[in-house]
Amino acid sequence: MNILILGSGGREYSIGLAISKEKESHNITFCPGNGATDSFATNIDIKDYNKLASWAKENAIDLTIVGPEQPLVDGVVDIFKEQGLTIFGPSSKAAQLEGSKVYMKNILKKYNIPTAAFIETSSKDEAYKFIDSMKKTPIVVKADGLCAGKGVIIATSKDEAKKAVDGMLSGTSFGDAGKNIIVEEYLDGYELSVFAICDGENYVVLPAAQDHKRVGDGDTGPNTGGMGAYAPTPLVNEDIYKKLENRVIKPTLDGMKKEGAPFEGVLFIGVMVVDNEPIILEYNVRFGDPECEILMPLLETPVSELFYKGATKQLDTLDIKIKDQYGVAVVMASENYPYSSSEPAQIIVDNIVDEELKENSHISFAGVKKIDDTLFATGGRVLLCCGFGNSIKEARDRAYLLCGQVHFAGKKCRSDIAYQALR
Ligand code: AMP
Ligand code: GLY
Repeated sequence: MNILILGSGGREYSIGLAISKEKESHNITFCPGNGATDSFATNIDIKDYNKLASWAKENAIDLTIVGPEQPLVDGVVDIFKEQGLTIFGPSSKAAQLEGSKVYMKNILKKYNIPTAAFIETSSKDEAYKFIDSMKKTPIVVKADGLCAGKGVIIATSKDEAKKAVDGMLSGTSFGDAGKNIIVEEYLDGYELSVFAICDGENYVVLPAAQDHKRVGDGDTGPNTGGMGAYAPTPLVNEDIYKKLENRVIKPTLDGMKKEGAPFEGVLFIGVMVVDNEPIILEYNVRFGDPECEILMPLLETPVSELFYKGATKQLDTLDIKIKDQYGVAVVMASENYPYSSSEPAQIIVDNIVDEELKENSHISFAGVKKIDDTLFATGGRVLLCCGFGNSIKEARDRAYLLCGQVHFAGKKCRSDIAYQALR
């Protein structure tokens, strides 16, 4: 197939890498890709989605895969479908599940899907009243719109929650994205990332993963896009998967059909498990990054087949096969992440001589650019060292061994990825 992948991060790199390793050979193009995706694909840079759809038609693209949320919310799927192209992802209407937390919470409420008690409001008085009525702290305050993962404040006191409300409603914290807010109860449990590949009607659930959102070891410091992930997590049992299917995924797919916005694409379910009950924190409408980087290599089913069948309403004919293995991904970020940008730094990867390590690990490149055949870290999350094995410990050890072979000025990573599964 001729496959087009939208995006430039480690998530998109890992999708492309998995496709490039399939038995059947494919022709892969990234828009825009990064400094490493050109090692197995071609990079193009077309910003206008109408022009990109025309390019896809002219170049006989059989399947387009969209990595990040912004193009989905902006309607890239609608534009491609209007041109008769096959694209895997939700319509802009269905992407509101991520684009608007108010929309998402109202869908959860309307279809009786378990979620934290909340109010949605744009009134300071209403928010204050709800906060005053709450029996427990912390209290969670969320901006409605997309805030690059930063629009959630976990306030430890009622005063702090009210300050968060003020900052959002006045527009000073997140601009227009904070003009509507959610105030909700705090859920105390452990967090999971669960991904359902959906075609509007049918779905396939991938093994549950855990992300590590805080920048520092022991889940300290500010939130990031994610500093590492592992899967499958032993914290999930069959009972939780069943509850997720029956109480969450099926009612969501049915509900979205009723809303006139059938959900096609990756439904990323942010779950908090409280006393063995899965409660929904949020939906995203695309793969998690770094979760994607370990899930793609764990698929035995060709990734291109999974997404093609997802895009063409054929998931009912797919018998998904997952490798009997574990994966751990450790993010190597730049010195100043997530506070500010960092100077570009040359990346050096040692020659790996250990055959076992070579076979069971790889790098997924993210924030990198190439200058004269040399790779430079350009800031943010630079790359991920991914290790695989027959146990989480083996996978984790391989990921960290690989980290030791990668060098760039200011490199930093967490040293405790997968700790929840290993303690
Ligand atoms: P969200 O963007 O809604 O996923 O929120 C970002 C992070 O904030 C989540 O991954 C959780 O770790 C945390 N969070 C969000 N809502 C809650 C809640 N109601 N209770 C506890 N933690 C939460
Ligand atoms: N890893 C969390 C996210 O992609 O939003």
